[in-house]
Amino acid sequence: MCGIVGYTGPRQAAALVLEGLRRLEYRGYDSAGLALIEDGRIEVHKAAGKISVLEKALGAKLPAGHTGIAHTRWATHGAPNTVNAHPHTDCGGTLAVVHNGIIENAGALRTALGKRGHVFRSETDTEVLAHLIEELLPGTGSLVEAVAGALHQVDGTYGIAVVSTREPDTIVAARRGSPLLVAIGSGENFVASDASAVLAHTRSVVYLDDGEIAVVRPQDYRILDLDTVEKEKTVTRVDWDLATIERGGHAHFMLKEIMEQPESVRNTLRGRLLEEEGTVRFGGLNISDEELLKVQRIVITACGTSWHSALIGEYMMEELARIPTEVEYASEFRYRNPIVDERTLVIGISQSGETADTLAALREAKRRGARTLGLINVVGSTIAREVDGGIYLHAGPEIGVASTKAFTSQIVAMALLTLKMGRLRALSILQGRDVVRALAKLPELVSRVLTKAPLIEQLADRLIRAQNVLYLGRGYNFPVALEGALKLKEISYIHAEGYPAAEMKHGPIALIDDLMPVVFIAPKDGVHQKVVSNIEEVKARGGRVIAIVTEGDTALDKLADHRIEIPETLDLLTPVLSVVPLQLLAYYIAVRRGCNVDQPRNLAKSVTVE
Ligand code: G6P
Repeated sequence: MCGIVGYTGPRQAAALVLEGLRRLEYRGYDSAGLALIEDGRIEVHKAAGKISVLEKALGAKLPAGHTGIAHTRWATHGAPNTVNAHPHTDCGGTLAVVHNGIIENAGALRTALGKRGHVFRSETDTEVLAHLIEELLPGTGSLVEAVAGALHQVDGTYGIAVVSTREPDTIVAARRGSPLLVAIGSGENFVASDASAVLAHTRSVVYLDDGEIAVVRPQDYRILDLDTVEKEKTVTRVDWDLATIERGGHAHFMLKEIMEQPESVRNTLRGRLLEEEGTVRFGGLNISDEELLKVQRIVITACGTSWHSALIGEYMMEELARIPTEVEYASEFRYRNPIVDERTLVIGISQSGETADTLAALREAKRRGARTLGLINVVGSTIAREVDGGIYLHAGPEIGVASTKAFTSQIVAMALLTLKMGRLRALSILQGRDVVRALAKLPELVSRVLTKAPLIEQLADRLIRAQNVLYLGRGYNFPVALEGALKLKEISYIHAEGYPAAEMKHGPIALIDDLMPVVFIAPKDGVHQKVVSNIEEVKARGGRVIAIVTEGDTALDKLADHRIEIPETLDLLTPVLSVVPLQLLAYYIAVRRGCNVDQPRNLAKSVTVE
């Protein structure tokens, strides 16, 4: 989820690409950089931190070149420092590359290039592209041929822009999986990862599709396929305003992030599943299988939404890996003389990697000799740096204060870790393969749930005047009930409570009357029949039931006032699907009530104080 912008034309490129970067800063901002062609040389400037840091480093006198590319980074590989910031150059410093996406076979390519004498400066996957293009350029007729040749060798996703001293007024851009467009001006052209970067200058754009390369010069542009055969493309006129474009056409970041979940879940899984072996591989766990086998107990610590995914993780770990697991609020754990030692694995879950209580809890665990792991979204964040090892979520930047896509990616990452730990212990290869296959199907199933959005929007209309809503679930879906209630509270300011469905009769049942909507998370899983009995109890007291059910399950047709269907999956993965309608429900209710969905009152995205 990085931002890319490039310019070629008569004007000063540096000023224009910096302006574009500022517009893209919402996509990520842990480092930024630009490369300009000036007097037949490539000039590169980079800085860790926000774009303002890069601007300050450049000072008032910007480089004079007329062709340039720039990048604002949201790290996926390598810490967010100046060396890892884009653009990346080849050994000779004659070409520069910016990249959004993940090159999955970067490790193997890097080793091969190293053997052939290439010297790498950064830890990024992107740098392999610069060296691959460098190797091919002398033997090919043009920059675009060398770029196409390099792209034929890489697996994974990319949106890239490349400049080279060999063709000083050309930008070559290509796309597979990461958005990219060419924006057409008069005597000047741009490339950008989204239109907001260039809208101040032109509204005519050509959106690249996967497998396409653009050759962009001041007076013209060409679109080719990966075999460099030219293609016809239509020019689109962009009528949206800038703010809408930053949100990908959605009214709020929260909705954009909910809708992105097929992709964010796919990114959490990418390159990690080993179907044949029925297990997973991680790049940064930093704990050997032998050490993992010595773990006798797991403590998972987190805050807020991340704490809910920790609860799901506890159920997974105990069921599949048979390791005793406890979940602790980080704010409690840090002050209560917890029992942890070197045989305890303490896992911190955090979207931001900066939550003060989670950080303090992990430091405390470390001080007491425990091994620590982080399930973190923001690469290079404080927790990510301090833990012994970790699993990055790769969900992309989450801007909406109410966490959505980070939550589903956390559940997926917990399932991956459980699979790893389970396969080292009692879980058979056949069971492992089942989980791997179910995980691989998840992105597609999440897309199916999202098609229910219009139905959920209509349902929201009936709930906007509710003063209390109860969310009930059992087993893996009890934490989903907590999360559904939290989402509603956070953004709509309606009081909501999540409860284990069977516990309802020990208290909340007293609240139920015909004014009280009760949301049941009731997919067909191991506790389905029990949940149906709990629904009967609510109906007997006049409650209004909204049920999340498995596709084709007609058992609740008569009992539930409203049903929302989700596809079938393994029990442990149902939360990834069942939470999505609850996110949408909270969202649409809050919008109808006129609330500030992306920045709810009193809340902060990342709580860096106690
Ligand atoms: C804040 C946010 C929540 C988030 C929690 C934990 O309260 O508003 O959405 O779940 O912090 O944040 P973390 O970054 O550690 O996951």
